[in-house]
Amino acid sequence: GNTPDAGPSSLTFPELRHQIAEGDAVAEGHAIQTVIRWGDPILAEAPEFDPQRQTPEAQARQFGYNCDYLDFFPLPRGSRASDHGLLVVNHEYTIPGLMFPGLGTGNQARRRVSEAQARVEMAAHGGSVVEVKREASGWVHVRDSRYNRRITLATPMRIAGPAAGHPRLRTSADPGGTQVLGMLNNCAGGNTPWGTVLTAEENTNFYFSGEAAESGPQAAHYRRYGIQKQGAYAWAQYEPRFNLDREPNEPNRFGWVVEYDPYDPASVPVKRTALGRLKHEGATHAVSADGRVAFYSGDDERFEYLYKFVTARPWNPADPAANRDLLDEGTLHVARFEADGRMRWLPLVHGEGPLTAANGFASQADVVIEARRAADLLGATPMDRPEDVETNPVNGRVYVMLTNNNRRTAEQVSPANPRPRNIHGHVVEIIPPGAGTAAVDHAATEARWEVFLAAGKPGVDPGTQYHRATSDQGWLSCPDNCTFDSRGRIWISTDGADDAAGIADGLYAADTAGPGRALSRCFYQAPIGAEVCGPTFTPDDTTLFLAIQHPGESSGSHFDAPSTRWPDFVEGMPPRPSVIAITRIGGGKVG
Ligand code: FEO
Ligand code: CA
Ligand code: CA
Ligand code: CA
Repeated sequence: GNTPDAGPSSLTFPELRHQIAEGDAVAEGHAIQTVIRWGDPILAEAPEFDPQRQTPEAQARQFGYNCDYLDFFPLPRGSRASDHGLLVVNHEYTIPGLMFPGLGTGNQARRRVSEAQARVEMAAHGGSVVEVKREASGWVHVRDSRYNRRITLATPMRIAGPAAGHPRLRTSADPGGTQVLGMLNNCAGGNTPWGTVLTAEENTNFYFSGEAAESGPQAAHYRRYGIQKQGAYAWAQYEPRFNLDREPNEPNRFGWVVEYDPYDPASVPVKRTALGRLKHEGATHAVSADGRVAFYSGDDERFEYLYKFVTARPWNPADPAANRDLLDEGTLHVARFEADGRMRWLPLVHGEGPLTAANGFASQADVVIEARRAADLLGATPMDRPEDVETNPVNGRVYVMLTNNNRRTAEQVSPANPRPRNIHGHVVEIIPPGAGTAAVDHAATEARWEVFLAAGKPGVDPGTQYHRATSDQGWLSCPDNCTFDSRGRIWISTDGADDAAGIADGLYAADTAGPGRALSRCFYQAPIGAEVCGPTFTPDDTTLFLAIQHPGESSGSHFDAPSTRWPDFVEGMPPRPSVIAITRIGGGKVG
């Protein structure tokens, strides 16, 4: 119901004030609890976290760094339990200056690591699966659970789909081009109707170095994917596969969507190359009325594109085995937004249109390995950094977080990216045919679209529409991830609001329909330096999990005197990326 405080919004929590602080904060009436932190032991025989004595062996059995995507898979499997389940977490990247003493800050710190530290970093990447349950005292993680799992750079994975076995995926360690160790820079993700999780490799270029970036036969292709002679990390010094001059094809084995079964810690993750190789922010699904499944994915870089993969066949709820390789067969599309409020999904299919041998595409393998170049040729719409793309379960519409693009010029604006120097970002809403009915068609190649929300302080950009009731506290900057509660209200987390707007990153909620449509309200404020990732509700909306990534990552912070020691606030303990649970004091649905 409406309250004077909430105005036309259906959301009635008291709004937080915009601020920057060492600690975090949530709307009154709610409580924050830390569920698991970087370094917490999760596998048998893992030692307690000791920031002064980190080893790759310990880290491979402890919760990893920089948690991003979060998912909650109920236990038992197939139930809608909201008090017991598996927390599935991505560990996107590492910040050596905050992890290890004495390295200083920034990219210099990243390149100054010892081999032992680099190997801790490799073990801190990847993912975690952790059993969690809600007890009288709140949420706890179960140490040594038989479900618990760490995925690291050493985890064997299978490569499947059109690029599997292709010569461009072969290396000296894997002459067949079908096996790879680990995954890199897994940002957001998604899941499937058949109960597996998807984890998306994003900025995989950071990890590779070598002269070949500029002079090798793949230099143009490397450049399109941001691979440079001097990568951001020091790993190429210590592990030859990250050296482009030793293993020029290794980068082609990263940048994919990876599928695994979180309920089976022995399951081999599979890189699904049919979904294309790009800087996948995430990969989220929507089931079409005919049972085929669409997977939406943003390519998070300035002027990159929005993609959708549609399975060739319907998924089969009655036969799990029939869905096992559903992601290997289907059609990848890229989005083109038109000025008349329509949009088209252009198929990236070898042999169709410009995707031919004459343009360097000898097969579908070439199309997926160089998905960006294929999309260029099709005339896709360059976007303002597409991050999370999620479908609202209530209205069937698809929401695209466009985090920002400070390089778009006035000449480069387009209907779906209408602001030059778009430092705050915006959210585009796609309306597939039949949205809001049982006949919704996520497989269709046409849809309608609108700008749902313009981020930034209302009034600053002349000509931009904001909800007129947006309060001084309710506007947001740099939308990154989102989720929906069971009433179809959107919850948007931000990354970069501190730089763009001088306010902490946070979590904001808004109605998607009615008089409060796109009227955002501030619910949670992150500790200084952190972004908020992975918002996910339990099935009954009574718990909201958030991943708090890179606390303390702000200019001037370092191990010895960090800008925050969140969440422990103990002298000598660095800030620790952690998963938190937010619940309503006294019980009930969050919000
Ligand atoms: Fe890892 Fe696109 O944020
Ligand atoms: Ca992100
Ligand atoms: Ca970030
Ligand atoms: Ca981001």
